[in-house]
Amino acid sequence: MKILVLNGPNLNMLGIREPDIYGRLTYRDLEVFIQQVCENLHIDVEIFQTNFEGALVEKIQNAYFEKVDGLVINPAAYTHTSVAILDALKAVSIPAVEIHISKVDEREDFRQISYPGKACFATVAGKGIEGYKEAILLLKEKLEEEL
Ligand code: DQA
Repeated sequence: MKILVLNGPNLNMLGIREPDIYGRLTYRDLEVFIQQVCENLHIDVEIFQTNFEGALVEKIQNAYFEKVDGLVINPAAYTHTSVAILDALKAVSIPAVEIHISKVDEREDFRQISYPGKACFATVAGKGIEGYKEAILLLKEKLEEEL
């Protein structure tokens, strides 16, 4: 099973960025955590972070050609703006889980819409970086159902 974990803008600033909201763990800590979770589950994982919307679109498109089985995506601020990322997810129709570190549903009004979320079969939010584990487990379950 091959999955891709995508992280959008400013997630590389974890640990520095608004620690009251996103915690004190760094992006490197998040990468190590995801690697460990996937190693334990015997999942082949690629982790990718970018601050650019088009780079996320291209990574999603390439996932189709590289036969990636599933996606976990934290589109970060693009969650609330990006029809392009929604369209890319729909184009490839690879099972995807949306993840947010913070409790987006308890935050500002402008965070209440998720465009990419419309193409995801599940959303995990407000569980810190531990939420990535839940997202990966949900994805694994879904992919195993489809076998
Ligand atoms: C986020 C929530 C978004 O609203 C925000 O723009 C982010 C991070 C989260 O993980 O909680 O950058 O996706």
